[in-house]
Amino acid sequence: MGLVTNAADLDRMRAACKDAAKILDYITPFVKPGVTTGALDKLVLEYLTDELKVKSATVGYAPPGYTPFPGAICTSVNHQICHGIPGDRVLKNTDIMNIDVTIIKDGWFGDTSRMYYVGEPSILARRLTDITFECMWLGIAQVKPGNTLGDIGSVIQKHAESSGFSVVREYCGHGIGQRFHQDPQVLHYGKAKTGEILEPGLIFTIEPMINSGRREIRQLADGWTVVTRDHSLSAQWEHSILVTDTGYEVLTVSEGMPPPPAFITA
Ligand code: MF3
Ligand code: CO
Ligand code: CO
Repeated sequence: MGLVTNAADLDRMRAACKDAAKILDYITPFVKPGVTTGALDKLVLEYLTDELKVKSATVGYAPPGYTPFPGAICTSVNHQICHGIPGDRVLKNTDIMNIDVTIIKDGWFGDTSRMYYVGEPSILARRLTDITFECMWLGIAQVKPGNTLGDIGSVIQKHAESSGFSVVREYCGHGIGQRFHQDPQVLHYGKAKTGEILEPGLIFTIEPMINSGRREIRQLADGWTVVTRDHSLSAQWEHSILVTDTGYEVLTVSEGMPPPPAFITA
């Protein structure tokens, strides 16, 4: 798992995470009805290669049992939960989409995702997106030394389920740093005061996947795309977070990131 406490290493991790967030800012104005997910992927690959001069962590990424992922982003539309493969799909008004990007800069990984509206979303899609954003931030607000991973999962699950939504169980947040996915596993459900105790220097993602219907998933034949079994809508937001001496630092920050909910800034 490895705690990162060295100041120079932390700065390298901050820089990688900021570049990942910058990519999500960059792509925002291109997300419009009529564009394909593949065109967005191409723009991101060019931007991160030519402008940022970093590497994609997802192009060619092939965990055991998977074929290499082809894209620099995951584009997960409507009932797609995560790992949507960019391609010929044309986005249309009312679609909602998660764009997830992970890059490697100087050997350090930055991983973040946001929801995007294509044109005008439905009332349900907007509410699901907002509640999922709040779930992520409620989880982030639990991050401080002495609290546990269960404290994070518990607040996320409570907010999602009390809103009439469900939490995907098969995928979780993860430790990150000089590797893409490492311990600990950060579940988005669970019981307060259980699980690993947070320590300064621990870095992990919080990336809740919340469904408007039932929590069960299905994996498509492309080997990657994960969808809701009942075809209900799904949303996800992701930040990479450092545990500090007194609380948390959100590492995947940028000028264009949506501001935290009022319960954080108050
Ligand atoms: N970025 C995703 C995560 O949050 C992982 C994507 S792996 C890919 O962990 F191969 F699908 F891109
Ligand atoms: Co992640
Ligand atoms: Co991600």
